[in-house]
Amino acid sequence: FFMCFDLCISEIYVLDDEVGLGRVFDGIGGLSASNCFFTLTPILDYLFKPQFGASLHILKVEIGGDAQTTDGTEPSHMHYESDTNFFRGYEWWLMKEAKKRNPNITLIGLPWAFPGWVGRGKNWPYEFPDITASYVVSWVVGAKQYHDLDIDYVGIWNERSFDSNYIKVLRNTLDKIGLTGVGIIAADGNWDVSKDMDVDPYLKDAVEVIGAHYPGTTTIAEALKSQKTLWSSEDYSTFNDPVGGGCWARILNQNYVNGHMTATISWNLVASYYEDLPFGRDGLMTAEEPWSGNYVVESPIWITAHTTQFSQPGWTYLKTVGHLTHGGSYVALTDSEGNLTVVIETMTHDHSVCIRPPLPAFSVTPQNVSFKLNGSFASIRELQLWQSKFDFKRQKHVFFKKLSPIKISNGSFSLSLDVDEVYTLTTINTGQKGSYPDPPPSAPFPKIYKDDFNIANPPFSEAPYFADQTGVFEYNMNLTDPGPHVFTLRQVVTQMPVTWTMDADQTISVIGDYNWQNLTVTCDVFMESVKTGGVFIAARVDKGGQDVRGAKGVFFWVFADGSYKVTNDLVGSTVLAKGLSGTGAYSWYTLSLTVQGQYATGMVNGEQLWKNDVVLGQNNGWAAIGTNSFELAQFDNFVIEVK
Ligand code: GAL
Ligand code: CA
Repeated sequence: FFMCFDLCISEIYVLDDEVGLGRVFDGIGGLSASNCFFTLTPILDYLFKPQFGASLHILKVEIGGDAQTTDGTEPSHMHYESDTNFFRGYEWWLMKEAKKRNPNITLIGLPWAFPGWVGRGKNWPYEFPDITASYVVSWVVGAKQYHDLDIDYVGIWNERSFDSNYIKVLRNTLDKIGLTGVGIIAADGNWDVSKDMDVDPYLKDAVEVIGAHYPGTTTIAEALKSQKTLWSSEDYSTFNDPVGGGCWARILNQNYVNGHMTATISWNLVASYYEDLPFGRDGLMTAEEPWSGNYVVESPIWITAHTTQFSQPGWTYLKTVGHLTHGGSYVALTDSEGNLTVVIETMTHDHSVCIRPPLPAFSVTPQNVSFKLNGSFASIRELQLWQSKFDFKRQKHVFFKKLSPIKISNGSFSLSLDVDEVYTLTTINTGQKGSYPDPPPSAPFPKIYKDDFNIANPPFSEAPYFADQTGVFEYNMNLTDPGPHVFTLRQVVTQMPVTWTMDADQTISVIGDYNWQNLTVTCDVFMESVKTGGVFIAARVDKGGQDVRGAKGVFFWVFADGSYKVTNDLVGSTVLAKGLSGTGAYSWYTLSLTVQGQYATGMVNGEQLWKNDVVLGQNNGWAAIGTNSFELAQFDNFVIEVK
């Protein structure tokens, strides 16, 4: 009976539009950057299709810069200063698929890195602001010209320094070709740009949205004072188990309640890269096995649906939003035409921890709540009710379930809230938990894998399953080739990019299964740098992403100066064997590397060049191809046979 005291007393929360409205809601989004290898329709539907799954309002993509940006490199639309090509990579395709499903989706482009020429030899994009701005604006122009995509916003330089002068130059460059409607988001790091805006009215004019990353649901005084739109322009990046879903539920509400942010964007859109690369499975859903077709619709998809299916960009938050007395939060939004959507979350601390920043302690306990509908909501008689209920004890979670509508009497309703729940109450009755038949079961990467790259009109510029970690490997056509190597794969980055992280000094693309131990990798190789050229094939490669410089494995190199070596590392310093190979530029050679237990053996054109070298330490990892420097080189007839 005395226990009941806390549980039975119901706090009353008022939802009212007559006290004035809050900020305009800009939506919830996903961010595609650095690797993506799914192509399946159901996945696109779960992400973008309205009234189906996550039904995202925003798609943010990387403007490829030929450099490593966490789980791989994305190709630039301008590898070289005189080069433009708007058909590289997968982002154009992704944006078009998103638009097909939701023509109103907001599109954002942001560079992480830039091709080396943009920096004119410096690892810095702001020395020549006109060059950088025209490079970025040419991407916006190309999106429209080649794909009929209207880009809504561009950003500055992901999580790196911003430069006020550059931001103004970028604004001016957009304006002078009539792209006045393309907004600038600054600066995709912390909130500091708002301090500069405070003392620089021109900078303030140039910026449309202040975007901060992983803000921990809070902002700073200068950002609020600016009266600019505030976004969490990158957030989440949390392993997508139910705790990840809990993180997402908490920040989607509290980024507004605590930090007045009107959009939140998840890195990543979908975890679609080898899980052993950095931040494996940090995405709204998982699609990391394109060879099997398996994918998993994880809880963040359904948590997103609680907001996205029942409110749209352009709706307005009510002023009456906040925290619940016994923990958790509620937001309410309206279209100002009588519709109301309320989202409530009661995620406990330990079940809603995100990757960063650290989460201060707080407590959430079961509670009864009553909501009073005032103003134009007073006449609402019924609200649709959707529930997600995390059950960590029994590991039986229920996501996005439609319950019986709530009847409103005397303008109010009550709910009894348990911990770790998410509710949507809404006048919108089009919500749907979309579904597809189960995808094929999970399966490891095939043990025998071949690619001859013989495809005249590939859907993507890069070959399936190869995950470039430094450099860019593209389908290539040699029209003068007499026959065997008309279609090849070519490494095309010839200069260290203006980097986002530490790219390797060598280029490398990994493929396969991280657990692989014993296998043969065979590949035809073709160097295009006389004397200085060098290429490798490799097995048991243990690192990619931001750690790629430190990659170990078994690397079999041949050089255009007629030599070969076998090394234990990508930098090529731990030499296991070396000697003469007779290799040179502008000829094709078939390299073959077999690794078995402690030993490795190498062949050139079917003849053994070296054998039974002792492999140091490295027991498993991906297969790989690559070059000795940023140089042109080609690869063909790639074969893996796993023992
Ligand atoms: C962010 C970065 C992303 C990704 C993510 C991983 O800081 O912008 O590209 O690296 O971290 O948590
Ligand atoms: Ca070929």
